[in-house]
Amino acid sequence: MTTASAEPSSPRLTIAPSLLSGDFGCFAETARNLAAAGADWLHFDVMDGRFVPNLTFGAQVVRALRDDTDRYYDCHLMVERPDFYLRDFAEAGANNLTIHYEATRAAHRVLRRVRELGMDAGLALCPATPVAVIEELLPELDLVLIMSVDPGFGGQAFIPRSLDRLQQARELIDASGLAIRLEVDGGINDETVHDVVAAGANVLVAGSAVFHHPDGLAAGVASLRVNP
Ligand code: DX5
Ligand code: ZN
Repeated sequence: MTTASAEPSSPRLTIAPSLLSGDFGCFAETARNLAAAGADWLHFDVMDGRFVPNLTFGAQVVRALRDDTDRYYDCHLMVERPDFYLRDFAEAGANNLTIHYEATRAAHRVLRRVRELGMDAGLALCPATPVAVIEELLPELDLVLIMSVDPGFGGQAFIPRSLDRLQQARELIDASGLAIRLEVDGGINDETVHDVVAAGANVLVAGSAVFHHPDGLAAGVASLRVNP
C-alpha cells in the first residue's frame, strides 16, 4: 500500500519537479533536497525505450526513495503495457500512477486496477490525442495529464496548442463535478506557467525550470508557484 502523501501546500497549485532532470547518481539526496526546497510532489518519469525513444528507471527507484521524503510520489509511465507494472509501483510506495491513453487498449480496466491497488489513477495524453477521449474515463480518474511536449525527454520547447487542450480538459473536468487534478508536463517555466494556470492546470511538472534555475532548487520551485 502507498504511504501518507503530502497534500499540496498551496490549495491552488501543486508543484511536481521531475527527477528526469536531476543527477541519476544521487537520487536520494536529490529527493531530500527537492522536499526541502518546497516541492509538493516528486514526478518520476518512467520510460521503457519502446513507448518513447528513451530509457530511464522502474519501480525500484520509487522503492529506494520512498523513505527519503513524505512527499506524494507521482509516477508517469511512458511505457507499453503499463498493466505489467502496476503492483510493482504500488508495493514500491507510489501515490499516483499515470498511464498513457495511447499505451493500452484497456484503459478502463487498467485504471480501475490502479485504484484497486491503492494508488490514485492518472491518464496522460500525447500532444496529438484528442482531449475528448478522457470524457468516458473521468469516473475512473484522479488526475488528467496533458503533455505539452512529445514525451521522452526533458528540456523541450512548450507546444503552444497545449493551452487550448488544457482548457478543453478543464471544461470536461468541471462539467463532471469530479475532484480530478489537471496536470501539465513539458516546457513549464516562468514564461509558460501563467498561461497554463490560466488555462486550468493545477499540477505543474517541471524538470529544467527547477533543476537549472540559477538560484537553486527552492527558487526554481518558487518561480512556478504563481497566483492565477
Ligand atoms: C517528458 C517528461 C517530463 C519532462 C519535463 O517525457 O514527461 O516530465 O521531464 O522536463 P522539462 O520540464 O524540462 O520540460
Ligand atoms: Zn513526466
